[in-house]
Amino acid sequence: MFVINHGKRCVTLKKDFLLLSDYSKEEILSLLALALELKEKKKRGEPHRYLEGKRLGMIFEKSSTRTRVSFEVGMVDLGGYPLFLSGTDTQIGRGEPVEDTARVFSRYLDGIMIRTFSQKTVDTLAKYATIPVVNGLTDFAHPCQVLADLLTIEEHKKMPFSELTLCYIGDGNNVANSLIVGGIKVGMKVRTACPAGYQPDTAIMAWAKANGDYLCTESVAEAATGADVLYTDVWASMGQESEAQARAKIFAGYQINGAVMQAANNNAMVLHCLPAHRGEEITADVLESHANEIFDEAENRLHAQKAVLVHLMKN
Ligand code: CP
Ligand code: NVA
Repeated sequence: MFVINHGKRCVTLKKDFLLLSDYSKEEILSLLALALELKEKKKRGEPHRYLEGKRLGMIFEKSSTRTRVSFEVGMVDLGGYPLFLSGTDTQIGRGEPVEDTARVFSRYLDGIMIRTFSQKTVDTLAKYATIPVVNGLTDFAHPCQVLADLLTIEEHKKMPFSELTLCYIGDGNNVANSLIVGGIKVGMKVRTACPAGYQPDTAIMAWAKANGDYLCTESVAEAATGADVLYTDVWASMGQESEAQARAKIFAGYQINGAVMQAANNNAMVLHCLPAHRGEEITADVLESHANEIFDEAENRLHAQKAVLVHLMKN
């Protein structure tokens, strides 16, 4: 085990970044501190080429705007080289086993980022790869997103996480799962409002109840009352396009709108991982009046992921 010191916070180095549940509170806080340091360096125009000459393969089996661009720009900022690898253009799309892909990529690259469907694919990739693997979203989790979300909350709220209540409204999906884990790990109170049958992962909810202040409800009003941070995501995620119409009926009402803002605390901030569907999970006016927070959140993907890459790939 190596120990790395980023300012005042020390952390052990892990091989992969697959799930926030693999990381301790101290490790998450250390990544946030490093992200902030990298953000400030970039704003000052100070070089921070910690990954000079390192190569990151980026496998995408689903679409992406933010994840692709932020990883690609992040690697360039760090002096490294990103390779975009679409699932359909590689042999992955023709069924080459992930175990073999992992071992081949380990001979060429210094790290892999993957966006795919099954969490098992990412776990298998990491098991067979001798280089770091980063989860860029699965059906189960979106840890890079939530690291950026925590950074955005820290920057905007400027108070200890333990004094904040985070409320997620909508589908109990990949983002919700990671948000519960990340929120509870850093000490926030977490509330989720999801319709019956669309709750977050059962094991994650049980873990959250056992390890922090977590409330799972079907009532948007109950979850939003007293919230400092309101968060939502699309009703139909990538891969669920055929369910979109049915979901629109089930999720009607699971929306961040003026009434929800009224129930929340004064100065509650609003986050959305994007892309957003105005008029569905969030109204256009709420999104626009909180655009500074939501687009800071999108920007922070870059800084948070650079911290993850430095943490995993700098040796
Ligand atoms: N939030 C997020 O992951 O966005 P992309 O799907 O555009 O990467
Ligand atoms: N839950 C969404 C998040 C997109 C960033 C999806 O998986 O499509």
